Amino acid sequence: MAGSLRIWIFTVFVVGLIDSLEASMRPRVSFPQGSLERGLSVYHSSTVKNTTTLLLSSDANTLFVGARDSVLSLDVSQPDNITLKDKLQWTPSKDNLDKCKITSKTVCDCGNFIRILQFLNSTHLYACGTNAYGPQSIIIPADSLKARRDKKDAKNCCPYSSTQRNTATIVDEELYTATNIGYFGDKVISRCLSKGKRNNLVLDSEPKLLNAPVFISSTHISSEGKILLFFTELGDLFGDLFVKSFTVSRVAQVCTDDNGGHRVLQKRWTSFAKSQLVCQQGDELQFNVLQDIVTLLDDDSPDNTLFYGVFTPQWSLSSGQSAVCAFSLGDIKVAFSGQYKTFDNLNCWSRHSNGDGKLGKCGLFNDTDSVLNTVKKTFLTEHAVRPVGNKLLLSSTKELYSRLAVQRIRAANGQKYTLLYLLTESGFLHKVVLLDKGPHTIEEIQIFKQPQIVKNLILSSSKSVIFVGSSEGVIRVPVSSCSVYPNCAECVLARDPFCGWDSENGVCTTVSSTRPNLQQDVEDGNVTEQCTEFINTAAGPATVTRTAQLNDIVVLPCQSRSRLAEVTWRFSDNSVVSQFPYMHQANGSLTFRVTPDTVSTYRCVSEELGFRQTIVSVSVTLPVTPRSFPYPSQQHPDITRDSNKVTEMEPIPKDEILFDETEPTEGKKTAWTTGTDSGSGIQTRNNPMNSAEKDVCISKKSYYAEMVSFCLLFVICLCLFIASVVLWRHSMRCNRTTSEKKPKDSETDNIWQTELEDKQTPSS
Ligand SMILES: *[C@@H]1O[C@H](CO)[C@@H](O)[C@H](O)[C@H]1NC(C)=O
Ligand SMILES: *[C@@H]1O[C@H](CO)[C@@H](O)[C@H](O)[C@H]1NC(C)=O
Ligand SMILES: *[C@@H]1O[C@H](CO)[C@@H](O)[C@H](O)[C@H]1NC(C)=O
Ligand SMILES: *[C@@H]1O[C@H](CO)[C@@H](O)[C@H](O)[C@H]1NC(C)=O
Ligand SMILES: *[C@@H]1O[C@H](CO)[C@@H](O)[C@H](O)[C@H]1NC(C)=O
Ligand SMILES: *[C@@H]1O[C@H](CO)[C@@H](O)[C@H](O)[C@H]1NC(C)=O
Repeated sequence: MAGSLRIWIFTVFVVGLIDSLEASMRPRVSFPQGSLERGLSVYHSSTVKNTTTLLLSSDANTLFVGARDSVLSLDVSQPDNITLKDKLQWTPSKDNLDKCKITSKTVCDCGNFIRILQFLNSTHLYACGTNAYGPQSIIIPADSLKARRDKKDAKNCCPYSSTQRNTATIVDEELYTATNIGYFGDKVISRCLSKGKRNNLVLDSEPKLLNAPVFISSTHISSEGKILLFFTELGDLFGDLFVKSFTVSRVAQVCTDDNGGHRVLQKRWTSFAKSQLVCQQGDELQFNVLQDIVTLLDDDSPDNTLFYGVFTPQWSLSSGQSAVCAFSLGDIKVAFSGQYKTFDNLNCWSRHSNGDGKLGKCGLFNDTDSVLNTVKKTFLTEHAVRPVGNKLLLSSTKELYSRLAVQRIRAANGQKYTLLYLLTESGFLHKVVLLDKGPHTIEEIQIFKQPQIVKNLILSSSKSVIFVGSSEGVIRVPVSSCSVYPNCAECVLARDPFCGWDSENGVCTTVSSTRPNLQQDVEDGNVTEQCTEFINTAAGPATVTRTAQLNDIVVLPCQSRSRLAEVTWRFSDNSVVSQFPYMHQANGSLTFRVTPDTVSTYRCVSEELGFRQTIVSVSVTLPVTPRSFPYPSQQHPDITRDSNKVTEMEPIPKDEILFDETEPTEGKKTAWTTGTDSGSGIQTRNNPMNSAEKDVCISKKSYYAEMVSFCLLFVICLCLFIASVVLWRHSMRCNRTTSEKKPKDSETDNIWQTELEDKQTPSS
């Protein structure tokens, strides 16, 4: 109990800390699904479901997709078109299907979900599917999926389940796989398809080798001759009742040269070792549950190869929390060559110094029985692997990140930046650049609307696209779209290492070696420094004139595309529009009632990274006298303080709707109406007097007219009230059944209302 309380208090404290970092993770620009500016291409077919297992050809022109009951190859070489090239239909055998339908909880699981799809060699693919709980594998030529091939039983190599996670890597035509292998969810790490005299290997059955693992990912480290596997499992290093089910994230290794021991550990891994991955900053909350991890190779110095993992905490107050940590291969090697823990016969962990440094090395399969007997029980490293720099690369209290891709690219000034692509559980892709100052989320793009149980993400650096596989289809997202930034300021403020401003052609364009001298400032987004020409010539938007009646409520919309910009409304003399009598909406709109005091020119100014620009400029005026109108207009309005700003008020033709749709925010309807246009929506709440005053000359007499109409209305209302009371009492007397009373009442209300409106109309 004390333990749980401690953790809870701790969590509260840490969440508070993380909150302050939250602003830095807010995406600068957001593109909803279907946005034309940030076009996605989609492969979707009504006959192909669960397109979740993805494999990209080395030239990135073909995407292989493992779906339910089929393997597809898609032509992704066209920039805005994904087409089906080839398809292997692969349904479960009838026997399996019948058996499955009896035993399975849901008939939906009784399909052949393709869960492994890998290149066996340069010409052939290895695929395996769940086959209605009877996993099968197949080897097929990549360029003709339909070619007839034998299907093989794949019991120890391929997942049973359509949803449990698994991972597989093929090295030299041998398959290293980590998966659940039976109906009861047994878990194995094995080598299948072993060549020549080499043994197929599995993990020994010693306790604690694996404890309810969830396999996340695996990768071949050729410089070490090892496969690294990443997974989570239940930890048991704590005696406390509460933390018994504490999840730990792991990196494990097996060597590709392993062939199992001679007498001890026959046909078992002799090179298996595991270590803990800790995604934690100092002593703060640990993000202990690994969700996805990817490798960023460093060919020049392999030890600097980095593994970027996205983690979530096991316990959190709000469900949406995640963090990204990077681990270096060098640190992982240090952990595996250091001290170990032995799980002895007394069911206790004890320390093993690894004095001869054999543990964690490859080649032990050829060693003596006594060494292998030690290996058998000594597989957990004493020291955990901590993130590079002992810190989180980013964390978010709002978003539950579940998949990621990573890329290092060269910016216009030649400096290299790391970009993360993070898929949120809610279906958005966030693009984040890691800067010295911290992460900056350049944009978010909505990929799918429904949360997905199974989804995968792969990046093609050469084609600069991301593919997302989900049950809704395969979606291709270009990593950048510089043309969405219309001017130099926007292009520089985006701080997108892909995009720079080409001042010669006046476009925001993709950075490449053939286009030097692009204006870009990824670190600071300093517009004044980068866009001197632009700033000298930019005039800002033209002032739009709005005409409105006295007492109208006007709404001036102002939307900055950037969600990081601070938006303020200002008068033409640059003073800030006050809180009262104005209403500043959260979405940037300014709302106020038109009075002689509020007739003015308003500018919506956004400020971001020290750069100010006017987004809209609106001059709110009262209607001007139409010349043809015969009314004398010599009198001054009587409630005028600033006569320059207020035009004299004259009746205007009833049908003249003062509408202006030249808003920069397209698609959003602005409501600008006179009092007579009653069907124009909620933004206009006219004073009821307006309609009455239309036909009366507004000058000194206007109050009289208002009073008369007010009295008239009051009398009508009073009559209606009395009438409804009488009716209500009448109906009470007639009908005592309460169930029927309510609808009747509301019906009569409606009748009165329409009658009221009818009566009002002629008076205007
Ligand atoms: C397969 O796709 C369907 C919708 O097409 C979805 O309801 C189901 O959850 C998916 N199953 C898996 C295992 O992804
Ligand atoms: C997509 O590609 C096919 C075949 O290459 C072509 O017929 C079709 O017109 C293309 N569609 C679009 C929208 O480009
Ligand atoms: C790839 O493997 C397949 C199946 O084992 C084999 O038929 C083919 O010759 C191999 N191709 C190459 C280039 O080694
Ligand atoms: C295994 O050890 C023997 C001698 O102990 C040696 O001859 C042989 O080459 C070793 N095999 C491997 C694969 O290292
Ligand atoms: C801004 O919010 C106000 C009130 O919440 C709403 O009336 C208005 O339509 C919104 N404007 C835009 C452009 O979303
Ligand atoms: C932008 O650069 C200019 C000139 O180098 C400098 O004076 C200014 O302080 C910078 N602005 C910001 C916000 O860093």
